[in-house]
Amino acid sequence: MVRVTEVGPRDGLQNERATVPVVDKVAFVDALVAAGFPEVEVTSFVSPKWVPQLADAAEVMSRVKRRAGTLLSVLVPNEKGLEGAMAAKADKVSVFVSASEGFSQKNVNASIGVCLQRLEPVVRQARSAGLRVRGYVSCVVRCPFDGAVTPEAVRAVSERLLAMGCTEIDLGDTIGVAQPEDIERLLAGVARTVAPGTVTLHLHDTRGMAAACVERAIALGVRSFDSSAAGLGGCPYAPGAPGNLATETLLATIERCGLWHGVEAAAVAAAGARMRQTLTRLQRDSGGNS
Ligand code: HMG
Ligand code: MG
Repeated sequence: MVRVTEVGPRDGLQNERATVPVVDKVAFVDALVAAGFPEVEVTSFVSPKWVPQLADAAEVMSRVKRRAGTLLSVLVPNEKGLEGAMAAKADKVSVFVSASEGFSQKNVNASIGVCLQRLEPVVRQARSAGLRVRGYVSCVVRCPFDGAVTPEAVRAVSERLLAMGCTEIDLGDTIGVAQPEDIERLLAGVARTVAPGTVTLHLHDTRGMAAACVERAIALGVRSFDSSAAGLGGCPYAPGAPGNLATETLLATIERCGLWHGVEAAAVAAAGARMRQTLTRLQRDSGGNS
């Protein structure tokens, strides 16, 4: 069994120029939850000055339908974000750190060291409240500002996240440039700290190589991946980061490897297509300038 976390409502919609109305976001999340994912990353409690597209996080969380068996998770960058997440009754929170200094400065306005310090009380409080905590490490292969990133840098950040209490490490190829060999080198380099069977991979798909990376990762023992319905997404602070690995592609790749995921693929495709239509309508209504 391979665990698939759907991140489209968060990683997908954070990068769209148009802000999607709450009603459409809620319908998107509800459809994804109904499709049977074990986890849907719904939104972010980050600064609305930094990511205005997700400024409606509290309202979206208050309106989505909950279903036993699907965790609703949210991204938080600091204690203020955690307060929002807890008030919204998120089941799980995700903190995030970059393995490269350049992206750290651009994404959270702080060095890796300051970001990790900032996250310590966040993870501690979340764990005391009984929440699971995902620790994302970004730019695990390449940084859009600093260039190549070593597996050792990724391992060092992962170790700090685990030491502060994160229950899961999620390695992000933020700009989607990994080749299967990079994934193999990365997994070998972090194995002393995070074994392939415990790690989650979060791939973006700039060069059409994400499915090949998934196949290599599965062969090496990885059993948890993130993806985004219809391949929506990217990061507004990582130039050149287009869509996430499409969930439709991920599900088909898992099946091709002879494994199962427990998600209703047709329902995901329908939800992704509806969101693409909504984005096209919003763009048309704004005269193509959104
Ligand atoms: P800052 O400007 O250095 O810090 O931002 P600040 O503390 O001065 O805050 C600025 C303003 O935001 C203040 O408001 C704060 O109150 C407010 P003002 O006093 O000016 O009116 N604020 C908040 N409001 C709501 N919720 C909060 C919050 N925090 C501060 N939680 C900060 C520092 C970290 C807040 C900012 O840089 C930030 O929010 N960054 C998030 C950027 C982001 O969301 N990036 C995308 C997600 S990461 C990603 O996509 C990668 C991933 O997918 C994995 C991968 O692909 O690798 C996860
Ligand atoms: Mg991402």
